[in-house]
Amino acid sequence: MSLAPGKMNKLYFPKDFIFGTSTSSFQIEGAGKTEWQNFVGTDGTLLDVAIDHYRKYREDLEYILYLGNAYRFSMDWSKLQNSAFGPLDKEARAHYLEIFEALKGKNKKTMLVLNHFSNPMWMIKKGGWASSGSADVYFDYVKKILDIYSGYIDLINTFNEPNAYANLAYILKDFPPKRTNPYLRNKVLANMYKAHKMVYDHVKKKYPHISVGISHACMFVQALNERSPIQRSLRWFLEYYMFEHVHEIFTKEGKIDFIGFSYYGRILISRYVVLAYEKRGREVLDRLGLDHDDMWETYPAGIYYLIKRFYDKYRKPVIITENGTSTDNDELRKNNIYSHLYYIKKAIDEGADVRGYFHWSTFDNYELAHGPSRRFGLVSIDHSSPGLERKIKQSGEYYHKISSSGSVEKII
Ligand code: BGC
Repeated sequence: MSLAPGKMNKLYFPKDFIFGTSTSSFQIEGAGKTEWQNFVGTDGTLLDVAIDHYRKYREDLEYILYLGNAYRFSMDWSKLQNSAFGPLDKEARAHYLEIFEALKGKNKKTMLVLNHFSNPMWMIKKGGWASSGSADVYFDYVKKILDIYSGYIDLINTFNEPNAYANLAYILKDFPPKRTNPYLRNKVLANMYKAHKMVYDHVKKKYPHISVGISHACMFVQALNERSPIQRSLRWFLEYYMFEHVHEIFTKEGKIDFIGFSYYGRILISRYVVLAYEKRGREVLDRLGLDHDDMWETYPAGIYYLIKRFYDKYRKPVIITENGTSTDNDELRKNNIYSHLYYIKKAIDEGADVRGYFHWSTFDNYELAHGPSRRFGLVSIDHSSPGLERKIKQSGEYYHKISSSGSVEKII
């Protein structure tokens, strides 16, 4: 059977399928008092207030509520707690409560990401996730969070992409603290898993209505020439060190209710890792006639292969925690939404239990190591206007149609 998208004009998804959008606190609120303070992206932009979401949240909620039937987001721990084991800050508590209430008021499903790549400076100063006390400190914070917000939460990601965090912060020097230290990288992962288990057991005992999992960063990896030892070892590095091996740490004892993973495309290996955000990577992809956005090769069929792989392996419900396109070409974004949903539907039709899809991202935001020049949003932000004016894109209107009808129409 052909895998090419486009055989059907309309795809109908199961009732209650989640069509959400997704953000993370420091990428829309700014660095706060986290390790991202004073961070300057590769595009030269300082991360200060990002898109000023913390002040403009009421306006932003209108877009969030319009775009999806669900919302996946994180809160800034550094605003909520000023010290280890300290009380939660009143003002920040009320702020996030208003967001939860707005979501609940409109019957939206909520996925709370308890930790999305950012941590309070007071925690980092004590060694961050490499410190043996980190799990207890985090668990105290999470218990306090759940005491207040548990009634509003449907799904939890204890950690966003622990594999990406450990490798980008402690091997590849992309994220703070920009270290290359495999020993610390392993400690970070061990502490995060310890913390994950504590939260999992706590939630299952006290709040059984909440489903708990992680978001695993996953890309489809292929060597251009499997016979080349260099390419094979690079593929091994990515697949083992970066991807499934880390996932296995978090899944080995079955303490997850769903398999959550983000998917942005395929990573090809030649003499080096082919990345569309590097000139040499773009040249390879262009020479081979392969589609890409500003960051990665676009490879929608990969989402289907990964869903099948994970579902066959774990037999747990699957949720796509993030998928999106870094581009200024909104037609490309729309096409990618369609083609990824096409492949998700195909996996569902073949028996995989996929429960939801969160588009990354609700807004153009501060893209991790790069800055605001990489735009993933369904809503644009005009950085040249003093009020950082928001405007829904055509892709946002397209996504609204999808989430409100539960079906996806092909773009002609
Ligand atoms: C991360 C986001 C990031 C996105 C695009 C995901 O891996 O969770 O924080 O902005 O990828 O790079």
